[in-house]
Amino acid sequence: MVSSARTRVGIVGAGPAGLMLAHLLHLAGVDTVVLERRSRDYVEKRVRAGVLEHPTVELLRETGMAARLDAQGLPHHGFSLRFDGVDHRVGLTDLTGRTITVYGQQEVVKDLIAARLAAGLPLEFEVDDVAVHDLTTDRPRITYRAPDGAARELACDLIAGCDGFHGVSRPSIPADAITIYERTYPYAWLGVLAKAPPSHEELIYTYHERGFALHSMRSPDVTRLYLQVPPTEEIEAWPDTRIWDELGRRLSADGFTLTSGPVMEKGVTPMRSFVAEPMRYGRLFLAGDAAHIVPPTGAKGMNLAIADVRTLARAVSAFVADGRTDLLDAYSETCLRRVWRAEHFSWWMTSMLHRDPAGDPFDGRLQLSQLRYTASSTAALTSLAENYVGLPYAD
Ligand code: FAD
Ligand code: PHB
Repeated sequence: MVSSARTRVGIVGAGPAGLMLAHLLHLAGVDTVVLERRSRDYVEKRVRAGVLEHPTVELLRETGMAARLDAQGLPHHGFSLRFDGVDHRVGLTDLTGRTITVYGQQEVVKDLIAARLAAGLPLEFEVDDVAVHDLTTDRPRITYRAPDGAARELACDLIAGCDGFHGVSRPSIPADAITIYERTYPYAWLGVLAKAPPSHEELIYTYHERGFALHSMRSPDVTRLYLQVPPTEEIEAWPDTRIWDELGRRLSADGFTLTSGPVMEKGVTPMRSFVAEPMRYGRLFLAGDAAHIVPPTGAKGMNLAIADVRTLARAVSAFVADGRTDLLDAYSETCLRRVWRAEHFSWWMTSMLHRDPAGDPFDGRLQLSQLRYTASSTAALTSLAENYVGLPYAD
């Protein structure tokens, strides 16, 4: 016996995209149900993005979701490009009048979950066997298994596939209805979260002959660090002492001392560029990593997810309030313009800063030339800065 329920918008996935969409639709008076495969504890502890663009922070503020962000987030006015052992500062605020904010993705997720549960709104964790059906009808359905094993069905007006890169939504679209654009890279990132005060007050993106390294942080006593490693790298190959030695080598610069400390978490993330077009099939709308992936060098992934659902929430609200379909019809194209800008920026940052293991000395010379030009030209710095802080929303 399958127990059935109804909602306006069934949302698959409680990452930043799904939770923010649910929040925006709640503010617009639209009912939603959010279904998440993992436990609450798991999604709240998953360490991922750390840089929020200016437009993301503004949206969180406008929608009442920034109390903790404003108290604990770290506003940054610039970051450094480090090459030849010297820092070249990108003055974000001087160049654009804007800032970025360092605030962990899982903190945004915690804030959104707390608000939703406090309002008594439906958010189900640890659901299994989620599947989407009847997508080209006006009554699409989601079926799933509740944590107690009971089969459930959710009848919807629309479904939002916010279930990330490995979710079920995108693979439910017939292959001939979707085009995939993809690039993989010959390297991955080894990410480390360490109980150590940041060694510098700003982020440092480092180009080094041994490979890329990034110094970031989460709080005054937690550092976030990344190292370029081969794509097939096993985490077992990186005991903590090796990590600190390698970070020390790549990040070395005059007057800079790397502060080490106990490693709280470490993992390897592959690098990929990926876009699925269109971001819609019938009444299924894809948002965030379900539709596109950027390599993390541009710090854009979570910000794109938030931008997508802002556009989707406006389109859904117009549909629910007035039966308007024009914004839903424009959804994919509107999002893809921003997505491709971020794809280009992320690819550019990635290509400029990483060492291609199969590259030759010619490639290395081109990268250094690009870095030197970028660091010395006001036009190039401004372009980098305006992309990094986040371009204004176009709609
Ligand atoms: P996700 O966060 O992946 O959420 C999808 C949710 O759906 C998950 O909770 C998942 O459990 C759930 N789900 C999956 N399948 C199912 C299913 N079948 N049924 C139900 N639920 C399901 N971005 C930035 O903006 N700035 C950064 O600095 C940055 N740094 C990064 C560093 C690293 C190391 C990594 C890995 C990523 C980084 N990103 C960054 C990218 C960012 O983390 C993602 O783009 C972001 O998580 C996308 O959010 P999302 O909600 O679309 O997807
Ligand atoms: C992070 O702090 O996790 C971070 C910062 C900048 C990036 C990617 C990740 O480009």
